[in-house]
Amino acid sequence: MIITNLKRQPKKTFPKEVFLNGEWINPENAFVSVFDRGFLLGDGIYEVTPFYDGKPFKLKEHLDRLQYCLNEIQIEFNAVSLQEIMLKAVSRSGFLQSDCAVYIQITRGVAPRTHFFPEQIQPTVLLYAFSVVLNGFENKQASLLVSEDLRWHRCDIKSISLLANIKANNQAHSLGLDENLLIRDGFFTEGSHSSVFFLKNQRIFTHPEGPHILSGITRKVILDLCREMEIQVIEKALHIDEVTKVEEVFLTGTTTQILSVKSMLLNDKEIFNRPETGEITRQLQEAFLKLTRSSS
Ligand code: PDD
Repeated sequence: MIITNLKRQPKKTFPKEVFLNGEWINPENAFVSVFDRGFLLGDGIYEVTPFYDGKPFKLKEHLDRLQYCLNEIQIEFNAVSLQEIMLKAVSRSGFLQSDCAVYIQITRGVAPRTHFFPEQIQPTVLLYAFSVVLNGFENKQASLLVSEDLRWHRCDIKSISLLANIKANNQAHSLGLDENLLIRDGFFTEGSHSSVFFLKNQRIFTHPEGPHILSGITRKVILDLCREMEIQVIEKALHIDEVTKVEEVFLTGTTTQILSVKSMLLNDKEIFNRPETGEITRQLQEAFLKLTRSSS
């Protein structure tokens, strides 16, 4: 078994302030009922939006996805109403000149525990800005574990019920690896918290949108960049048997950005090894850097 030494992200800390149900509160005084359906049942959804140098990136797309998820689980709430509060969270937290992200969580609210959706309850809304390292991704490479995708069949909903994702990620983490890349019925779907792309015969492959992946906002940015750069993209899942023909692999996500993959480990066997970032990945990283840092 190969275990890589990894540079871990800086230790995470709590934010100084959160926005909970209409009020700005010190996290020490922010409370939610034990009968909140998010706490009892994982009945809620979330969203993470990046801010580069204090400016939102793909804000509309993140709010649209939040609205889609709310609609899919029938929580009546207008996602756009949070736009101003997101910007306020960034300025109130002192991140107007620095990189950060805004976390939003909306649960169905507080009610006696039932398996059906109770009517006429108020959603619980939590929002806060947090500091995140968004620079230097182009100098890093990730080592992945590959394992079975044990998630449900609605991965397009950004559910707060993340047990299968965190269990998979923790498995990779405990081996000193960076991410767990998931396979369903022999096909690569995505990472535990990232989208995945493969370069094969100079064409990029990524799993098509649908119930088995989250429709990643960064994924869409990559697809647009590929079109602009005339890199051919095929939205088709790659089978595990094709991995020997893969030239480059990279992960994408709001905090992951574009992360080159160095190695992949399946059942204790290394099935992919590429000690340096490939040419296409590098070109996409450069284009992504221009895009995210250009408006400042
Ligand atoms: N995760 N797939 C999964 C399962 C994810 O959880 C994420 C993001 C992505 C990438 O999506 P996007 O490009 O929109 O960030 C794909 C977030 C950041 C999280 O859980 O914190």
